Amino acid sequence: MSQLVNNINDFSDESKEEATGRKIVLEVNHIVKSYRRRFSRKKNVVLIDANLTISAGEIVGLVGENGSGKSTLMKIIVGAIGADKGSVGINGSFGYCPQEPLLYERLTCDEHFELFGDAYSLDHSTIERNRNELYEVLDFINYRENRVEELSGGTKAKLNLGLALLHKPDVLLLDEPYAGFDWDTYLRFWELTGKQRAEGRAILIISHFVADEERFDRIIKLHEGKTLS
Ligand SMILES: Nc1ncnc2c1ncn2[C@@H]1O[C@H](COP(=O)(O)OP(=O)(O)OP(=O)(O)O)[C@@H](O)[C@H]1O
Ligand SMILES: [Mg+2]
Repeated sequence: MSQLVNNINDFSDESKEEATGRKIVLEVNHIVKSYRRRFSRKKNVVLIDANLTISAGEIVGLVGENGSGKSTLMKIIVGAIGADKGSVGINGSFGYCPQEPLLYERLTCDEHFELFGDAYSLDHSTIERNRNELYEVLDFINYRENRVEELSGGTKAKLNLGLALLHKPDVLLLDEPYAGFDWDTYLRFWELTGKQRAEGRAILIISHFVADEERFDRIIKLHEGKTLS
């Protein structure tokens, strides 16, 4: 299944392949984006020429200083905001873990999984199976019946990540997913993404930690509005 995002070219039916023979699942070309400043005619130019190509079975890091436009680029990729110019193509389903968790204070973890599972058109038994796996691997089953308003920041971050993974998407887009995790959860996170990669999924992770570099297959840097590989 191909997913059309924004203004944006879709992949053709024949899947594109890299020189290595792996299927390209995400292609971002020449993205330009400015935000309008309030009470001013000036624009804040954030992205000038952002480009990405990611293949199945790759974990790619997107790095750059605060305010360099990493979250803006990811929001454009998932279609949460529009680009001024450029194109995005996603070949397959995607899951998005936003930097700020988008959760409902009065719903429990179980209810979140049911709500998102319904939105992804998963049947009940698949929702239950996938969510139980996520509770186990991220170690938060004890909170399944707690409302979000009762959760710690780290547990909210686990739920935020779990919701992105629930439907086992082909492309995972994770915006600083482990910022609130303790060490054990951080290690579990990397175990989990390693498994996802082995199953052929592609993962783009926004990260700040230089120490993580070796965990990525590739790092893309965003600097002064441009991507540098
Ligand atoms: N909705 C918005 N309206 C106006 N300006 C915005 C908006 N969102 C982001 N910006 C501006 O765009 C620039 C890039 O922000 P963005 O959140 O994409 O950076 P980032 O690289 O993700 O930073 P961080 O590492 O702090 O998460 C910043 O100058 C920010 O102030
Ligand atoms: Mg950000």
